[in-house]
Amino acid sequence: MKFGHFDDDAREYVITTPRTPLPWINYLGSEAFFSLVSHTAGGYSFYKDAKLRRITRYRYNNVPADSNGRYYYIKEGSTIWNPGWQPTQTELDFYECRHGLGYSIITGKKNGLAARLELFVPVGDNCEIDRLVLTNESDAPKSFTVFSYVEFCLWNAVDDSTNFQRNFSTGEVEVEGSTIYHKTEYRERRDHYALYTVNAPVDGFDTSRDAFLGAWRSNANPEVVEKGACTNSVAHGWAPVGVHQINVTLNPGESRSLIYMLGYIENPQEEKWAAPGVINKTRAHELMARYATDAQVDEALAKLHAHWNNLLSTYAVRSSDEKLDRMVNIWNQYQCMVTFNMSRSASYYESGTGRGMGFRDSCQDLLGFVHLIPARARERILDIAATQFPDGSAYHQYQPLTKKGNMDVGSGFNDDPLWLIAAVYAYLGETGDMSILDEQVDFDNDHTLAQPLLEHLRRSFGYLTTHKGPHDLPLIGRADWNDCLNLNCFSDTPGESFQTTGPSEGPVAESVFIAGMYVKYGNEFAEILEATGHADEAAAVRKEVAGMEHAALTAGWDGKWFRRAYDAYGHVVGGQECEEGQIFIEPQGMCVMAGIGVDTGEAVTALQSVQTRLDTKYGIVLLQPAYTKYHLELGEISSYPPGYKENAGIFCHNNPWVSCAETVVGHGDRAFEIYKKTCPAYIEDISEIHRTEPYVYSQMVAGCDAATFGEAKNSWLTGTAAWTFVDVSQYILGIQPTLAGLKIDPCLPHEMDGFTLRRVWRGATYEITVDNTAHAEKGVASMTVNGQPVPTNTLSPAPAGTTVQVKVVMG
Ligand code: BGC
Ligand code: NOJ
Repeated sequence: MKFGHFDDDAREYVITTPRTPLPWINYLGSEAFFSLVSHTAGGYSFYKDAKLRRITRYRYNNVPADSNGRYYYIKEGSTIWNPGWQPTQTELDFYECRHGLGYSIITGKKNGLAARLELFVPVGDNCEIDRLVLTNESDAPKSFTVFSYVEFCLWNAVDDSTNFQRNFSTGEVEVEGSTIYHKTEYRERRDHYALYTVNAPVDGFDTSRDAFLGAWRSNANPEVVEKGACTNSVAHGWAPVGVHQINVTLNPGESRSLIYMLGYIENPQEEKWAAPGVINKTRAHELMARYATDAQVDEALAKLHAHWNNLLSTYAVRSSDEKLDRMVNIWNQYQCMVTFNMSRSASYYESGTGRGMGFRDSCQDLLGFVHLIPARARERILDIAATQFPDGSAYHQYQPLTKKGNMDVGSGFNDDPLWLIAAVYAYLGETGDMSILDEQVDFDNDHTLAQPLLEHLRRSFGYLTTHKGPHDLPLIGRADWNDCLNLNCFSDTPGESFQTTGPSEGPVAESVFIAGMYVKYGNEFAEILEATGHADEAAAVRKEVAGMEHAALTAGWDGKWFRRAYDAYGHVVGGQECEEGQIFIEPQGMCVMAGIGVDTGEAVTALQSVQTRLDTKYGIVLLQPAYTKYHLELGEISSYPPGYKENAGIFCHNNPWVSCAETVVGHGDRAFEIYKKTCPAYIEDISEIHRTEPYVYSQMVAGCDAATFGEAKNSWLTGTAAWTFVDVSQYILGIQPTLAGLKIDPCLPHEMDGFTLRRVWRGATYEITVDNTAHAEKGVASMTVNGQPVPTNTLSPAPAGTTVQVKVVMG
């Protein structure tokens, strides 16, 4: 069953009923001011950091779901309704939500009155614009009242929802004309305030939540709206809100547009005050003046559309499969931008109050983002690397506002260092900008420890080289990519962190998955060394890599697949001798992607084992058999009920690893089959089972052991976005930016006749045509560049600004 449809020309998903299985959201903003907006106008906004600089308040885990947002109430006679249906849930005559790239448009109609709400964050400014256009579609004049509503958060989202003894007394506002300023704590240590305004005179306002809602009510039935008049309340403590009342009369066919703005302003210390106790509003006035008219808002929207047109023109495919084109050209890249911006901080599953930016997460997000805005990827690499410890290990997380490592979690996730190499290689392949390797970058954010970025990579690789266990495999530490494989932790007390309890960093537990990473990213590191004149060091790295390859094929090999790990007792994890958890997905994908066992046959055998033991109709599960008991020596992985999350869920993030791996061994049919199983556009028809948004990936789909097989959770913020884009763009369609050049090596389902593709790479545009009328799965039989045959399928960079015609014949 579907709850809407794709509109590819508009690049929108159109939701046609508010009664979706779950809130289906979108993200507004891609620089510093961000908003989450659900299809019923729920959600919240923040500046840079969802925990430390929260602008509006959200209620988690509420019933009904998705409580709080920017709500517009319309009262006509005794009928009160919202264009987005929530929170009054008054039945609408028409409802539609269009989620687009950086904007959403929600339209509701009731009794001949249409309300169209356009929401977006303009490029270059710190505000959300909500333009509400009201149209009288009836044949009689209409008089009605519009009430707007946002509830301010007292900045620190954790404090806001816990420290009531203080914050019930701190709330402060100022009101000036149609603008409500939220200035809690501005008097003392803050230099920022929020504002909520509308570009029209108001007939009333409220800033006290109690005054607006009335006692014992909720935002589903505010007293002020029922009575039809604001009270002009000024909040002193308790809960400051922003409410505007505007009385409207419209003749038949007439429209009125109201432009609301939720904004964020920072003032320099010495310019904080206009007068004692009165905030300096100069910057606010300037901001409001930029979006005061429809023409200005239209222009800002046009700029936003142009921004996305430009971004998406870097990689665009045209094939005979509209779902493939839709995901590659629009939604997958869009989700890559969102994950790059948010890491795992703010979604409807990540509260924005816990994790900041993840070291491994952000490095991987970059793999799917770097072609969009390489300059931002560069900046991000330098930020991440600056949190690395001098010994090459890394803080697992850092806060985006301070860019400092997060000590609560600390380090010891031994896959982290290698992801830095992956990110830097991707950046270099995309841009050719070797100068980044010479950038002086702090260790542990300490300037006195700064070293060139290349030295950071050296220490990343070195950390794993010097932290091996008894089988010459890398030590796992607190966990590797699989955060729930906590082989050294032994947590038995409720509430403890599974990851950071116990010794955490034992001398014995090893990871075959990290061995795969070591080979893949060790080879990439060697290429970087070769390209920078360090041939001897590169040879030494390749020697270490060869040793690891050997270890993976001996101690890491179980006979039919790669083992997963060795635990703290030296017992195998992910082998036939195990009672539960005999085979895991991660090392199969990563080791084969790294090329391990490709020449000697283990790679194909491992992938066959994945197909026979882990595959399901909705994707590949993480392990089998699922753990049915809690294994103290394995940790959180066995804490989940069978079929959920890391305990044999379909963890979408590592499905593309297997798809990539299948292309490495030339299996185009199978690679594409895997790609499609978790790909949103191909499973739109089962939205009632899948339940999360049909336009983006979710982190996890319940596996075949679960009662709710096929049900997804944790949409949006997942490494799945980047990895599926890497899979489809580089491995399946086969356009791979490398240090040596742009390599073209598609691996397709045999029935696909080919495709055309536009790729902007290092400033030149490549118009690529792939002819697969031979119905091959892999192999470039011949290639021409601007009509001339070329001897290799790796293109050297063409001069910036030029367009290059590339014809590839598979066979
Ligand atoms: C989740 C993991 C997640 C980790 C992060 C675990 O509870 O299952 O998916 O990566 O927490 O802290
Ligand atoms: C989610 C985390 O964000 C990611 O870093 C991790 O690799 C996966 N969970 C698997 O545990």
